This record gives sequence, C-alpha cells and structure tokens, in this order.
Amino acid sequence: MTISDNVRHGIEGSIVLKQKYGTKNVYDLSLGNPEMEPPAQFRKELLRLATSADTGLHRYMPNAGYPETREAVAAQLSVDFDLSFSTNDVVMTGGAAAALNITMKTLLNPGDEMIIFAPYFGEYVNYAANYGAVLRVVTTDETFVPKIDDIEAAISDNTKVVLANSPNNPSGVVLSDEFWDQLGLLLEKKEQQYGTQIYLISDEAYRKIIYDGLKYPSPLHHYRRSIIIESHSKDLALPGERIGYVAVHPDIDQKPDLINGLVFCMRALGYVNAPAMMQQVVSFLQSVTVDIDAYQKKRDYLYKSLIDLGYQLSLPQGAFYLFPKTPIEDDVAFVQQLQQFKVITGPGTAFGAPGYFRIAYCVDDRTLEGALEGFESAAKKFGIIG
Ligand SMILES: Cc1ncc(COP(=O)(O)O)c(C=O)c1O
Repeated sequence: MTISDNVRHGIEGSIVLKQKYGTKNVYDLSLGNPEMEPPAQFRKELLRLATSADTGLHRYMPNAGYPETREAVAAQLSVDFDLSFSTNDVVMTGGAAAALNITMKTLLNPGDEMIIFAPYFGEYVNYAANYGAVLRVVTTDETFVPKIDDIEAAISDNTKVVLANSPNNPSGVVLSDEFWDQLGLLLEKKEQQYGTQIYLISDEAYRKIIYDGLKYPSPLHHYRRSIIIESHSKDLALPGERIGYVAVHPDIDQKPDLINGLVFCMRALGYVNAPAMMQQVVSFLQSVTVDIDAYQKKRDYLYKSLIDLGYQLSLPQGAFYLFPKTPIEDDVAFVQQLQQFKVITGPGTAFGAPGYFRIAYCVDDRTLEGALEGFESAAKKFGIIG
C-alpha cells in the first residue's frame, strides 16, 4: 500500500463532496473562504513593502516571528483584553491551523486526552490524531453551548487540554463570560482533585466577526492556563496568505518552557516561520478588520429567509455560518438533495453534529439570493412549507 494506514483512515473518514459542478450553475455555500476582499490598507502596506528599498525582507527570521510584529500584536491584544501582553507572549504562525498544531504538539503526549465540544471544526479530529491525543467529545443541545456538568463528566486524570471555539464554526455561538467563569472554576477544581494541569486552548479564529454590538467574552479573564489561537484568515480575509498567531495568557505559569516548546514545534513540524511578508504587513493592520456590518446584513437576510421557508435555526452571534436543523434526520442525504437543487452546503455529521447542515454565507449577495430557490425547493420536498 502506497500511503500510510493513518492517512488512508483520514481520507476515508472525511466527508468530501466530490461531485463537480459548473461554477455558474451552482450556489456554493460550503466553504469558509471569504469572498470579501481584504481591507484597503492591506494592499497599501503590501505595495509599500514591495516597492521599499529595504533589503533582507525575505530572509529567515526568529522562528517565533519578527519581534516588531509580535510587539504590534501584543500591543493590540493588551488593548483588546485589558491585560498586559508582551512580545514574548506571542508566536506568529501560518494561520490558526499551524497555531493549533504547534500548541497541541507542545502540550500533548500520546494518550493524553483532549476535550472538544460538538459541533466542532472537523479538522480538530485530524490535528488530535497527529499527536496521538485521545479526543473526548462533549455534545451540546440545540443552543450549542456545552453543559458544565457534561464537561465535568468528561474530565479525567488524563485530561491535558480543553479546546473551545468561540465564535463557533459551524454554529456561530459566542460563549459567554458566565460560561467561561464556570469552566475556569471547574478546571481549577479538577486540577486540584487530580493534581494535574489542564490547558484551555481557545480557538478564536473568528473573534472579531461578532454582531449586534457584542463585546467579545474572553476566557483569559477567567482562567490563567489559557492559550489563544488567532488568525487573520477571516478578520482580514487573508486565508490564502496563512497568517495568524498563538498567544499565551500573560500570567501563565512555566511561560519560558511553553514558548520554547511552541518555537521548537514550529521547526519540528516543518513550518519554520510564518510568511515573512505577511508578518510585516499585518504588523500595521492589528486594529483593522473587514466590514463586519456587511456580514451581519448577510446573516440577517439569510436567517430571515430560511425562517420564512420553515427551517429551524438559531441566530448566530458571530462567524459567518448558519447551522439549521435538517428537515429529515439524515443530514448527509439532505445535503445531497440540496445539491440536486444546485445548492452546496456541508452536513452536520462533518462537524460532529448529525441532523444539522452548515451554510457558509461569506459569499456575494447574488449567490445568497440565488440559493434561496434551492432552499425553497428542499423545504417543499420535505414538507416544511406547503
Ligand atoms: C474554527 C476554525 N479554526 C481554525 C481554522 C483554520 O484557520 P486558518 O486559515 O487561520 O488556518 C478555521 C478555518 O476555517 C476554523 O473555522
């Protein structure tokens, strides 16, 4: 056999919608790949760098990233979270994906347990497998907020990491300060009970995409052993450029060890460093985002349209996904049926939540409007509207 058993297993386990359609004839709402352009300042900074007389812009730099970039990131984090971050708390990475991988590799011994909440970003399963971590999945009800009792039941003396994602892909749920407070207390209690250390990894790839004037509730204010995972794939619409970072809580214990571990894992996993040009550009864009109001308008339009068609869904507080219930139990069959109506979405099963489907609305308005006919045909076919 050419490829390894693990990789074959991964391929077979992935729910890949392989069918090919002409791009004109379908409404593809299956990808979290923003169609929005990056903010104007991005091109301006890129141009400035590209035409600069400075030399050495494309060399290796310290594995953790340029000190100036880490300093700029730390300064903005200090403002955002009202905590005192320093350059040494930040490691620049190739997006949240690399940030998650170096953090998991740094923390997890094979056999260590990592808790995730369903629905979850499907790649977590693959990343956990990279490090031999044992996943414990805590399910949620239709509010998509995990119950503290269920998390407690999932924690054992082998639990090393709890990985949370807020705003959540696919549900759009933003976890509240009250939730983080309860989780923080629980983790401290369990650490004492078992004499262990439990790290909270907070995947905040969509942190700046939140709606209705909400202020982002951060776990950093509730648990010191927190590590945040950030990305500019979504807030600056730069997914192809691979730029993001890890930051540790400024008061986390054993900080030098942790940072040295993250830096070592940048090398050991072959990432080496985050892309040089992008590090230099985003240094100047830390307080900038894409137009969040534009996403909120898309959310409101599609949410209302689907409610009118009889779909059951909750209004997401962040990210750019809707996660309605499928009108039939079999979400994979429903998604295939929608494809027949020229609308491509993702089955909840791929996110650990059968019975739902994910719609990515980070597309242009014409795609959203065009997809409604397919949603209506499916609603009629399965009898949720007459
Ligand atoms: C929840 C979540 N985490 C991490 C990532 C990876 O993002 P990046 O492009 O920054 O690697 C994604 C991408 O869609 C995501 O949805």
